[in-house]
Amino acid sequence: MERESSTPASSWLGIDEAAPFAGKKATKDAAAADAFVRRWPKVVNATLVAFIMTMPPLLILLGGGRPGAPAVWIKSTVASLAARGEPKKDVLLGGLLLPGFDEQSCVSRYQSVYYRKNMTRPPSPHLLRRLRQQEALQRRCGPGTEPYRRASERLRSGQNAGDDFVATVDGCGYLVLISYRGLGNRILAITSAFLYAMLTGRVLLLDPGKTMADLFCEPFQATSWMLPGDFPLEHFRDLGEDAPESYGNVAVNRSGSVAGLRFVYAHLDHAATPANRLLYCDDHRQFLHRVQWVILRTDSYIAPGIFLNPAYKEELDMMFPNKDAVFYLLSRYLLHPTNDVWGMVTRFYHSYLKNADERLGVQIRVFDGDEPFQHILDQILECTSQEHLLPGVVVSGHGGGVAPPPIARSKAVLTTGLNSWYHDSIRDMGPPAEPRAAPALLPEHPRHEGPRRDIVTSGWSTFGYVGAGLGGLTPYIMIKPENHTVPNPPCVRAMSMEPCDHGPPYFECTKKEIDKIIDTGNLVPHVRSCEDVPWGRKLADPIS
Ligand SMILES: *[C@@H]1O[C@H](CO)[C@@H](O)[C@H](O)[C@H]1NC(C)=O
Ligand SMILES: *[C@@H]1O[C@H](CO)[C@@H](O)[C@H](O)[C@H]1NC(C)=O
Ligand SMILES: *[C@@H]1O[C@H](CO)[C@@H](O)[C@H](O)[C@H]1NC(C)=O
Repeated sequence: MERESSTPASSWLGIDEAAPFAGKKATKDAAAADAFVRRWPKVVNATLVAFIMTMPPLLILLGGGRPGAPAVWIKSTVASLAARGEPKKDVLLGGLLLPGFDEQSCVSRYQSVYYRKNMTRPPSPHLLRRLRQQEALQRRCGPGTEPYRRASERLRSGQNAGDDFVATVDGCGYLVLISYRGLGNRILAITSAFLYAMLTGRVLLLDPGKTMADLFCEPFQATSWMLPGDFPLEHFRDLGEDAPESYGNVAVNRSGSVAGLRFVYAHLDHAATPANRLLYCDDHRQFLHRVQWVILRTDSYIAPGIFLNPAYKEELDMMFPNKDAVFYLLSRYLLHPTNDVWGMVTRFYHSYLKNADERLGVQIRVFDGDEPFQHILDQILECTSQEHLLPGVVVSGHGGGVAPPPIARSKAVLTTGLNSWYHDSIRDMGPPAEPRAAPALLPEHPRHEGPRRDIVTSGWSTFGYVGAGLGGLTPYIMIKPENHTVPNPPCVRAMSMEPCDHGPPYFECTKKEIDKIIDTGNLVPHVRSCEDVPWGRKLADPIS
């Protein structure tokens, strides 16, 4: 689980609050990055450009909202993309995204493709069809429409509660997501709740919280996925899992009767009771289809549990032929940083990451406390050494014959975490910084393969899951240490880039025996035990 910090981004990124994202500023940042150029000890022919960031990237996102910045920045970036003569890329991601959005209002939507690794998993035709249907549903039933007004009125008044609404009223059902905890948790909740909304034909509406609208653009055209300000959210935020409307109570104590209920409350917190986890097995024909409003509260990535439900198997197989790309595709569809956030991301990229031959991200999440721990540092170093990630040498290999000419490779290392001691320690292991001329010594060499990218994340970290999933990278996961000692092995290569669900169901949907715990990591080939959380479940493509 992650938590948020309120430290302003400017205190660690060195951002001048008033400065626009203009070229002048980027040059200054580049100079700052040069100061970190190092030759790593014991590494022949390798130069390490260690940019190291001390605070979670979360703060980049939360630092948005500076007035005046985006407009200037947008112009300079669009111009520079064109000037660089980048090969034209498929900005619509194989049909995942639609043309026709106002580009300037959300620049990242059509621009992020130029910053990311090429898509490795194209969306299936069926997924595209379902997305188009969902978009139409969101428009037809979303905030501001007559059906939405009527539905809100019914929610408020309780009139016709528990009627068979789908067949009779407007055909609009709603899934309201109350998300909480850190940004990582909220991103996992949103992407997986969207999958559930698609499967059950409901409009997804988000609790905007304090920051959601500042962080992400609207994913849908001509409607909004944010609950309007007049929605009585306060009545729902405090619901507990024992509420009369809770799914567990309705399923167990009311035998599925929703008579008199204005909504059903789906409590899928990672520590939810077994009765509430029965929702994972609901096939929506049981009783949920008679409820117009479902209020979902989760801090988790609920997709793996949904994939265990036989009712959705056929549909999910068609939507996702690659089971390891569910978060990857849905996040690329849904999550587009707002201009303020994107300005920070790209300026950061151009300053520190763009020219590196190799990039390594290290997400450090310590669950024992914020003070520095030697065993955590040791674990990072043992992991990166075991996997040859740091210092990222390219001197070995290449088979027999003539040794390849020495190539200087630069490496950008981005560490994120709540304590800067880890990054300071890693950086200080190198000799003093190279003189300013160092970057000029880096030879140009072909970039058509793109830089090598790797990511190492602390186990249990939802922020780490999100980082790997958004990047389309299969992470090296550092197993959570016990007794302050480095585990052996210090890290393992994950089976997929999918996030882990920390609160999956433990029963078989066909039996629904909630008191009988079974191993749901063996029921279907594509839902398995997580590397870091043994009782967690994650999606992966079956080993063939
Ligand atoms: C990425 O895609 C572009 C075209 O969209 C292509 O020119 C480029 O070679 C691709 N890069 C890699 C590493 O496959
Ligand atoms: C069922 O009702 C009992 C008695 O009111 C309550 O203690 C229990 O928590 C309810 N079960 C669920 C799953 O909500
Ligand atoms: C941790 O230490 C305690 C007490 O010394 C011991 O009982 C336990 O087995 C240790 N756990 C591991 C995983 O080493």
